[in-house]
Amino acid sequence: MNRREFVRAFVQTSTAMASLQALPSFAQTVGAATAADFDVNVLKHPSLTPYKGVSDFTGDLRCESLTVTGRWPAELNGRFYRNGPALFERGGQRYQHWFDGDGMVQQFTIGGGKVAHRGALVRTNKLLTEQKAGKFVYSAFGSYIPSDVPLQGPDSLNPANTSVIEHGGRLMALWEGGSAYELNASDLSTRGPVVWKAGLEQVPFSAHPKRDVNGHLWNIGSFGNHLIAWHLDPHGNLVDAKIGASPYAGGMVHDMAVTDQFLVVPLPPVKLNFEALRSGGAEQAFALDTAEPLRILVMRKDDLSQRRVFELPAQMVFHVGNAFERTDGNVSLSFVGSPHTKFLRQGALAVLRGEPSLAGSASTQLVELNLNTGRATLTAMDDQVEFPQVDPRRVGLAAQHLLSTSSWMDYADREGSYHGVQMRDVVSGKLKRFDFGENLVVEEHLLVPKPGRAGELDAWLIGTAFDVKRQVTVVNVLDAARIEDGPVAQAALPYKLPFGFHGHFAGA
Ligand SMILES: [Fe+2]
Repeated sequence: MNRREFVRAFVQTSTAMASLQALPSFAQTVGAATAADFDVNVLKHPSLTPYKGVSDFTGDLRCESLTVTGRWPAELNGRFYRNGPALFERGGQRYQHWFDGDGMVQQFTIGGGKVAHRGALVRTNKLLTEQKAGKFVYSAFGSYIPSDVPLQGPDSLNPANTSVIEHGGRLMALWEGGSAYELNASDLSTRGPVVWKAGLEQVPFSAHPKRDVNGHLWNIGSFGNHLIAWHLDPHGNLVDAKIGASPYAGGMVHDMAVTDQFLVVPLPPVKLNFEALRSGGAEQAFALDTAEPLRILVMRKDDLSQRRVFELPAQMVFHVGNAFERTDGNVSLSFVGSPHTKFLRQGALAVLRGEPSLAGSASTQLVELNLNTGRATLTAMDDQVEFPQVDPRRVGLAAQHLLSTSSWMDYADREGSYHGVQMRDVVSGKLKRFDFGENLVVEEHLLVPKPGRAGELDAWLIGTAFDVKRQVTVVNVLDAARIEDGPVAQAALPYKLPFGFHGHFAGA
């Protein structure tokens, strides 16, 4: 497919998206929860209060100096970012699905043992339009909003709420279905959607780009049965945007991996079925098609048509840990997989009603992909995890240690959230972990290499957690080599942040 054909297909897809506005959604089918419902239900579930979110009136959040306990490492300096859905209510309406909220970027500026915080909603075109209207104007991923305002393309619906990255001097909030949104790192004000090249405006730039060891950034965008592979140099300039056909017209192509020669993209067999939304609701709309395999697409970075498609038993995949090429030519891949989509179609709705989610069931999956035979061999781990991470210096290379948020204790009223972190040695199978206890809801943690050190565990772990008792958000720092000792330091905000999805660390 050449670029012209691609853009034509993209425009057709965008036009089809516009018809979404006219669809009744499962929100109506299952009964819409109101802000008052949440406020009542959450009284019984204090670990869920961050799902209340923020409002325009909250304004930017600022704290000049968080309260640090323990010994904050003097060499850990830089900017730690997070992003996630944050604004769920407007004009008396409340979104139904956690993924719907407008994005809010959190920035922790760390220097000299001090931690400062700033948080700001991404002022997307969507948010500005709805702010002016005093109500939601556009339908979201899981909420139907009746409206006669026409869509101008995917970015009309773009909440910029999934991840955040600094690359080539640009700070960007990312979402799966549209443009990256650029922000000013100095004050988190929004600059606007990024256009990498004229003619590719609004083409999806997904939320899980991978930076390889040479500092190049690789990303995909997906819609219908088309894929685009983005390649940026270390300075943030577009090197290339290659276009290819997808072997599966999936609706949830969320993450990808990069190796020396390949892009590796899981294509779980779940389609966003809008007809089902019309008649049946979320159960059907986000169901896993177990008659279809989980496809793993491995394609050459320099020629997307040179590819292998591997097939594994049906699973839902949100997140990839890493991939690398072995000397025998095989590709190793780690990801987190789930046998069902219950979180997507039930849990992510329950939490916005102020009700506990279901117990998680996603676990670490290790796969060997034989490029000669097309055979895939999968080994499933017995764990309960999300948000897999490796040493950022080993993205696309053999990484021995895989970090994840994890749950293994049966704490009351904590179904569907994580209370610990784990480090898995994927070579020996050894597992080290730390339990933060029933009063901390643990979010994604990242590996941050220690300056001047090269070992894979010569790193800190940094991540946020919600302290249920104090009702505030904290930042944890652990030593990657001694994860079982727990935090070496913790910085507490005087307020809570909405739960987020993903973060990024930019060294000073
Ligand atoms: Fe994600």
